[in-house]
Amino acid sequence: MIITHASAADLDGILALEQNGFDPAEQWSHALWADEIAAPDHLVLTNSDADGQLQGVATFTVAEDMADLQRVVVHPRARGRGVGSSLVRAGLEWAEALGANRMLLEVRTDNLAAVALYRRLGFDQISCRRDYYGPGRDAYVMLRPLGEDEDVWALSR
Ligand SMILES: CC(C)(COP(=O)(O)OP(=O)(O)OC[C@H]1O[C@@H](n2cnc3c(N)ncnc32)[C@H](O)[C@@H]1OP(=O)(O)O)[C@@H](O)C(=O)NCCC(=O)NCCS
Repeated sequence: MIITHASAADLDGILALEQNGFDPAEQWSHALWADEIAAPDHLVLTNSDADGQLQGVATFTVAEDMADLQRVVVHPRARGRGVGSSLVRAGLEWAEALGANRMLLEVRTDNLAAVALYRRLGFDQISCRRDYYGPGRDAYVMLRPLGEDEDVWALSR
């Protein structure tokens, strides 16, 4: 499993992941992903197989002590093999190294695979945003402490 920083050359592959991962209304555009890759304060990571085929992508930001997991998507053929977990773990390490003390994310409450992945990696649900993704489509806000806060959190569990 090879994790690298995304470049503009990955955009077509990333768009294919989007199309396989989300309903059309929820897909990010080519322009949006191009902006993610170009933004200096964003981390876009890709995961490829031994043949160089893109299997997954994830993007993160850090602003002062707060990190955000913006998106993670894995190709259906590569799911259930730890690709999503590896990408999120790499983003957590990057955010902690930059001094963030927590990572936040929003996820659809009915996205059971993603909610389970995040819980397994130590994210806890801290609130629910009604209609966040449109009428009847709610979001959990989930948070994971990092660094020293992570140690306090681990002791309290
Ligand atoms: C969510 C997603 C990224 C998970 O990627 P993945 O590579 O399959 O995840 P992993 O193999 O690392 O799984 C890690 C954990 O997540 C949970 N999980 C993953 N897929 C699951 C599923 N279909 N049902 C229930 N739990 C699941 C499990 O707890 C799993 O741990 P386990 O294998 O020890 O049981 C993938 O399903 C996906 O791309 N979905 C479409 C896009 C999306 O919804 N992205 C998230 C919102 S931005």
